[in-house]
Amino acid sequence: MHHFTYRNGVLHAEDVSIDRIAAEVGTPFYCYSDATLTRHYQVFTDALAGLDATVCFAVKANSNLAVVRTLVGLGAGCDVVSGGELRLALKAGADPRKIVFSGVGKTADELKLALAMGVGQINVESEPELDQLSAIANAAGKTVRVALRVNPDVDAGSHDKISTGRKEDKFGIEWTLAPQLYRKARTLPGIAPTAVAVHIGSQITELAPFEAAFTRVRDLVALLRADGIDIRHVDLGGGLGVPYDHASPPPPTPAAYGDMVRRVFGNLGCALAFEPGRLIVGNAGILVTCVTLIKEGTSHRFTVVDAGMNDLVRPAMYDAHHDVMTIAQPRTAETVATDVVGPVCESSDRFARSVLLPILAPGDLIAFMTAGAYGSSMSSTYNSRPLVPEVLVKGDRFAVVRRRPSFDEMTALEQLPPWIG
Ligand code: LLP
Repeated sequence: MHHFTYRNGVLHAEDVSIDRIAAEVGTPFYCYSDATLTRHYQVFTDALAGLDATVCFAVKANSNLAVVRTLVGLGAGCDVVSGGELRLALKAGADPRKIVFSGVGKTADELKLALAMGVGQINVESEPELDQLSAIANAAGKTVRVALRVNPDVDAGSHDKISTGRKEDKFGIEWTLAPQLYRKARTLPGIAPTAVAVHIGSQITELAPFEAAFTRVRDLVALLRADGIDIRHVDLGGGLGVPYDHASPPPPTPAAYGDMVRRVFGNLGCALAFEPGRLIVGNAGILVTCVTLIKEGTSHRFTVVDAGMNDLVRPAMYDAHHDVMTIAQPRTAETVATDVVGPVCESSDRFARSVLLPILAPGDLIAFMTAGAYGSSMSSTYNSRPLVPEVLVKGDRFAVVRRRPSFDEMTALEQLPPWIG
């Protein structure tokens, strides 16, 4: 469910026509819908009704300040994975106590920053990190709430590159090794091991892997408690998938996910944290791009657009599917098969292969749908292309929430060494 619909023959974001934004901002640009963001956050929190739950938005999915601020305004905490994301969450007004700091390679400086800012929970992913955090917390005279992120060795059934809960993945502490590390953590100064965390991957389209992982976590909590380790918080990560491709069966609803969580954790007496990213922002954003030219080959028709893989890398990186919509509503049912490609000098700069689209001409606008998560946040300036603007729509208003940089801004951090004249 989202708020990008045709009205009077033109795709609108809520009450604003996309071509009006394109005329003012230029293409390509990301466009987000406040109503969709809000709705998704509320649907997810409603699905957790009755649980002692905190929703920490995974900032990596979309780190635009206005997007994060919108979610924080609705009551969200933040899941962050770097000092930069931590600062961004704080800048967006997040309550530090509702910030969870995850990540497999936090540096000493990042851990110090997290302690100084009073972050609510640090999810530790290895024994060396635990030792380092203890030393840092002890030196600062602080005690920090720690979860060990366990790797439950469960295959999320998602794309290989976004699965994180198998033994061979770098994430977390193998669940069979976790009890002994909790016993050690209990003895370390500055560490309060009162939480368990898990996150098995992203774009998960079945409940079974979640349930298998969560059941392992629940059993671990029971075992640790029997050992006298007072676990009070469980962080269940993110990962619930969204519909990208309407030809595939839809992923489980947040309500079904919530029911499963209640089934597994209902009477455990733990506060629960969730770290959804994609579910909240995926459908709330689109990437709007303009057709530059049509190139006809003997076997292929290429629709070349002004957005590239640097702007939306998911198709190149994960063979991800994004529905294509024309901004002008098609007047006839006539379609033609075409590849949709960008201008970047890589063959992988292809958004869609042999997709059936209305007949397009240079200057026509199209949108890649469901691009709000891991779109802008993964973009780069490859081929010296400027990062694209981001626009937030609310009702009949829109605002540029990140503008396009000038060439001088793009190169402002570079300088020639003294030996070049
Ligand atoms: N928590 C942790 C510890 C994570 O590593 C992630 C995502 C999340 C939460 C949020 O997961 P979500 O609810 O968004 O599935 N770039 C890839 C996705 C990478 C996900 C990385 N971790 C993509 O474009 O599909």
